[in-house]
Amino acid sequence: VNGSTTVPAPRPTEPGLFTVLRIARDQLGEPIRHFERFGDTFQTELFGIPLMASRDPKVFEEILIRQHKSFIKDLTTRGTSLLLGQGLITSEGELWRKRRRLIGPYFHAREIGAYLPAFREEAERELAAWSSGQTIDVHRAMAELTMRIALRTLFGDDGTEVEDFEATMNDAMLYYLGIAGTTLKLPLALPTPMNRRFLRAREHLTAAFRRILARVRAGGAEKSVLGALLGAQESGALSDQDLIDEGITMLLAGHETSALTLAYTLALLADAPGEQRAIQRELAEGVPDTLEGLRRCSRLNQVVKESMRLYPAVWAVGREAIEDTAVAGFGVARGTQVFLYQWAAHRHPRWFSEPDKFIPGRWTPEFESRLPRGLYVPFGDGPRICVGNLFAIAQILSALATLLKRYEFESIAPFAPRLVPVVTLRPSGPITLRVRPRKLD
Ligand code: HEM
Repeated sequence: VNGSTTVPAPRPTEPGLFTVLRIARDQLGEPIRHFERFGDTFQTELFGIPLMASRDPKVFEEILIRQHKSFIKDLTTRGTSLLLGQGLITSEGELWRKRRRLIGPYFHAREIGAYLPAFREEAERELAAWSSGQTIDVHRAMAELTMRIALRTLFGDDGTEVEDFEATMNDAMLYYLGIAGTTLKLPLALPTPMNRRFLRAREHLTAAFRRILARVRAGGAEKSVLGALLGAQESGALSDQDLIDEGITMLLAGHETSALTLAYTLALLADAPGEQRAIQRELAEGVPDTLEGLRRCSRLNQVVKESMRLYPAVWAVGREAIEDTAVAGFGVARGTQVFLYQWAAHRHPRWFSEPDKFIPGRWTPEFESRLPRGLYVPFGDGPRICVGNLFAIAQILSALATLLKRYEFESIAPFAPRLVPVVTLRPSGPITLRVRPRKLD
């Protein structure tokens, strides 16, 4: 064991099954109530499997960065390999390291500039269809937008081959809600309606992706990430199945999370007309066409940070201890399933005053320098930090700037979404806003 003076983390007195069922019923609220009662980290167990939950930045930092070698992805995340195969999210060890080295460079800052025109053009295309006073489901609109962006920049596809990708992704994701939202699933071999729908969705995605592969191979999308991976395949580094796994992983990870972030940000802004005006003033000179330019729009950046604090599209990350260890003074047994709740850390009252309120102005440089590492981690941290985080930020800033330059967003009712935490943090229904064109200055 790592460190000599370890103690067990606090644990609720009731049987673990009760705690787990309670949390399954309210996966966002219940952990916070437990943290308030037992402390920022607590443990329990389910059928002999030790479980640990935390909102403590020290625990995040230990597990994601300092002791990352003692942990792999948790059972639930590993379960997504039914859809994602051995792609970058689910792979481990030497396989993961090689792939990350291969794929990572295509998401570096110097590559992002080449994608910016596509981000902007696709946003322009989206808003060209809007008319004054129209109500729009911004979640749906942003999902279509980020899907087109992902297909175009990552795969060099123009979107014609996979029209119902979005609905198919939905079907695939619903599977992970499990039976009655408990995340429990029956073996895929059983022909339940949920299992059948999932398998159909998986087949459909794979078939669509094979068509894209065939077209890219025939020539025409060399400039996409996939084009580059195909180049790597020629040297024997990747099989067809590897390409499919990485492709579906990137598409799922790359479009859904950005769409949610854009939709939540627009909804929050619709309730904060003063913030919208401040951003619009920043854009008086036009929408910046470089990443540095977008980064200099300080109000816009503050709004995105605050939106990802309140509604982190990835609301928790999971790990499994592969050896006995100690984390922030607590003993952690091998096999422990650890849940790091970004959702709860981002609303920790010790660091965020009025934690449930949208206050973009709190993100001053001084405030950021006071935050402990590990507390605000919408993209995770350590070696497994989101490979697409710069791509995501650039896409979100660029799309928001393009939309807000042309339109004002008005709320129809104050934004108070019912949230469904599946793999990502999704709204239970549409997010409907009214749009009005701005007078261009
Ligand atoms: C707002 C947008 C996004 C959010 C909030 C987000 C969040 C995250 C988080 C929290 C992780 C770490 C999970 C863990 O440690 O277990 C992650 C990993 C990952 N993300 Fe993202 N992500 C976003 C956008 C993207 C985009 C645009 C792409 C690709 C184009 C992408 C691809 C990936 C991949 C491949 C991984 C696994 C990386 C690895 O383990 O090496 N994500 N993401």
